[in-house]
Amino acid sequence: MFSVAVVTVSDRGARGERVDESGRTIAEIVTDQGWEVRDTRIVSDNIEVIIETLVELCDRKINLVLTTGGTGFALRDNTPEATLAVVERQVPGLAEAMRAETSKKTPRAMLSRAVAGIRKRSLIVNLPGSPKAVRECLDAILPVLPHGLEILTGRAHECARE
Ligand code: MTE
Repeated sequence: MFSVAVVTVSDRGARGERVDESGRTIAEIVTDQGWEVRDTRIVSDNIEVIIETLVELCDRKINLVLTTGGTGFALRDNTPEATLAVVERQVPGLAEAMRAETSKKTPRAMLSRAVAGIRKRSLIVNLPGSPKAVRECLDAILPVLPHGLEILTGRAHECARE
């Protein structure tokens, strides 16, 4: 069982002008994994607000922080920059796998600038903004997350090697 926070990054969502389907989709998927959603919130695309939110959630020792939205080319898309500002170690393989795997379905997957990284004992992963993209990207990385999180949280100390 891992603790999870879901952060929807959207100016319109934060103003209450858009229903947060993507955040709800993430929460459903991780709950189905048997993980505990401890926090869900909608924040604006303001980079300082995103940074503060990520720092607070990592300080609370949430194991996995999943963001959705703000990874594209719009001038207000700041989620990857906010994430890079707070992580201590990047995990490029997760973002690479999401783009590589899901580009087979949607070439536009290449347009997401999503990143992933570790701050203290928390893993932060950016997901694109649509519910469809969220499902596709989580499908690509969910199978490997438990092992990574076990190592990160100190519940496992070595990788079982064949
Ligand atoms: N990735 C997957 N797997 N499926 C998608 O439908 N949409 C793309 C891309 N990544 C998409 C995807 C599109 S159209 C955009 S513009 C970028 O994510 C950025 O989305 P965001 O700004 O909502 O994060």
